[in-house]
Amino acid sequence: MAADSSSQNSKILLTGIRASGDIHLGNYLGAMRQALQLQTKYQSYLFIANFHGLTTTPKAEELRKHTRSIAAAWLAAGVDTKKTVLWKQSDVPEVLELAQVLTCLTSVGLLERAHSYKDALAKEKIIKAGILFYPVLMAADILLYNSDFVPVGKDQAQHLEMTRDMATYFNETYGTTFTLPEALILEDVATIPGTDGRKMSKSYNNGIDLFASEAELKKQIMGIKTDSKGLDDPKVAEECVVYQIFKLIAGKSESDEMKRKLEAGGYGYGDAKKALLAKFLEDFGAMRKEYDRWMKDTAALDQELARGAVQAREKATKMIKRVREVVGL
Ligand code: TYM
Repeated sequence: MAADSSSQNSKILLTGIRASGDIHLGNYLGAMRQALQLQTKYQSYLFIANFHGLTTTPKAEELRKHTRSIAAAWLAAGVDTKKTVLWKQSDVPEVLELAQVLTCLTSVGLLERAHSYKDALAKEKIIKAGILFYPVLMAADILLYNSDFVPVGKDQAQHLEMTRDMATYFNETYGTTFTLPEALILEDVATIPGTDGRKMSKSYNNGIDLFASEAELKKQIMGIKTDSKGLDDPKVAEECVVYQIFKLIAGKSESDEMKRKLEAGGYGYGDAKKALLAKFLEDFGAMRKEYDRWMKDTAALDQELARGAVQAREKATKMIKRVREVVGL
């Protein structure tokens, strides 16, 4: 068994990140930080959703790069692979087998209600079936490992509800097989705003990327949208995205100080952005160095993922055997 069960309780935590771009602050604060903090408490399964990454149909080289980049991010952010299993989704093909079984129990109506599908409908002329079936594969990710807890941002809440629906229906049809997973969503980081004030998202291009070059980071942070109040005007801190983000990474006294300065006037948005950039580099400096180290040592990175894949597959195989049995395959 991968996890050190002597110091952990037997509950299972699992979460994934889609391999479709660079890790941004929303991914880190919404999902990764929580997951990492809980890895000493629960048996943890963290993975890189590269099959899901295919839904944005990148070039093969890009998908490989995103996959490694997310693995490096997990490791740099503090995954302890002695306790926690870290792997890439495609190394455990049993997930596709479970997804196929779940597909046969899931109504198209349920899938058509997914926000992710509706967003695609609004934007794309041709919707790929992978988008419609996205929540089924995600449910398979979660149920295959009998997950109890799934730390995510709020944008994944509906997918978790759908997972529970699928698990419930399966259990009612074939007898109790799956644990009903619980989403862990932390109120204050449920939806991190992006540089344009909308939800930070890879697809809106409004991210503050954890591992971008310093020059790129500066561009992203200095580009945060603000209103037109001048340097001397008093400002409403809570309405200012710079402050909203600063508050999430700085301590209380530093954020109170920024709030006070913004509200007093004589402190411009440019000043606040500079303070945010400095804080960001200070807080994430060590993690950024570790990330660079992993990205340079791809052999070591791939080795970690290969080891994780063996552990994940061992668990997945047991579950798929059970599923095959109860459904009659
Ligand atoms: P993805 O890759 O879009 O995002 C990874 C995690 O980051 C969270 N997140 C945010 N949290 C707060 N504020 C934001 N602005 C923000 N943007 C992203 C997401 O909620 C997510 O927790 N479908 C998933 C990947 C996945 C998965 C799974 C997750 C596949 N299978 C099984 C959990 C369990 C996704 O696309 O996340």
